[in-house]
Amino acid sequence: MAGEAFRYRTILEVAIIAVVIYVLVGTPGFSTTTNSKSLPSQQHEVPVAKAKIEQLVYPSKDLKCPRHDYNVHVFATSPLVLYIDGFLSDEEVDHLIVSSNDKWKVSTVSNEGREMVDDSVRKSEKAAIPRDNIVQCIEARALSFQGWPQETFIERLWTQRYNVSGHYALHYDWGMATKQSRRVSSFMVYLKGDCEGGGTNFPRLPLPKEEKWCEFIECGGEEGVEGVTFKPRSGSAVFWMNFDAEGRGYKETIHAGMPVRSGQKIGLNIWSWYQAGHKIPDER
Ligand SMILES: *[C@@H]1O[C@H](CO)[C@@H](O)[C@H](O)[C@H]1NC(C)=O
Repeated sequence: MAGEAFRYRTILEVAIIAVVIYVLVGTPGFSTTTNSKSLPSQQHEVPVAKAKIEQLVYPSKDLKCPRHDYNVHVFATSPLVLYIDGFLSDEEVDHLIVSSNDKWKVSTVSNEGREMVDDSVRKSEKAAIPRDNIVQCIEARALSFQGWPQETFIERLWTQRYNVSGHYALHYDWGMATKQSRRVSSFMVYLKGDCEGGGTNFPRLPLPKEEKWCEFIECGGEEGVEGVTFKPRSGSAVFWMNFDAEGRGYKETIHAGMPVRSGQKIGLNIWSWYQAGHKIPDER
């Protein structure tokens, strides 16, 4: 299974995977030194999982959320990629942006345990947003959307801000996977898209033929850009599953945050983490 997945990797992919790991190691929860291998690795599973568990969040017991409606369009079924129009309300979007104020810090990557800024891989700022009722309701919505998968938890939410020339190089979200713990799905939510550029490009997903999609994706055919690019429309989200039934990462999910050419983009990542045997702690 793993061997087969590996056989198809080109040198370019290996380079990309190396970049992914480089970046992942710099994200919260991966500050400990980890092995630079994307395939399941028993010996490193424990420290990664332990660090990750500290980043998982759980809903308050008495959480009550207002009803919220959105529109879902199936973009692809294998891998599952969905477009969610109106995943967040305008009020939620404004709240998240205000909550991020004064919390922005430069996104770093980590190289052999050393935190550093590397503009060639990732140029943005990120903010940890406080988990008030509105934010917890967004976390709960993300789980509800997925059908409350078992032993699966939301990772602490961060917003990301991209000014002019801000970008995120091609990467997968599923680098640190093992059988027992992995990032099962991703939501890329757009909060602010007052910009040129800044879309999310999936070079291996085919462009749909139906013109109705042009509301949500770039249909202009930008030179040198392959695949599909979702526009950063405020309140909307792209959702995708990272793994197939055998636990293999989908290579079609490779994606990049395209450079912002003018204006500013603010995004919100919602990642769901599967952790076998993990339970919601009692003290919440
Ligand atoms: C991004 O733009 C904001 C203004 O909207 C500014 O305050 C901030 O310093 C800029 N960040 C960087 C890294 O230049």
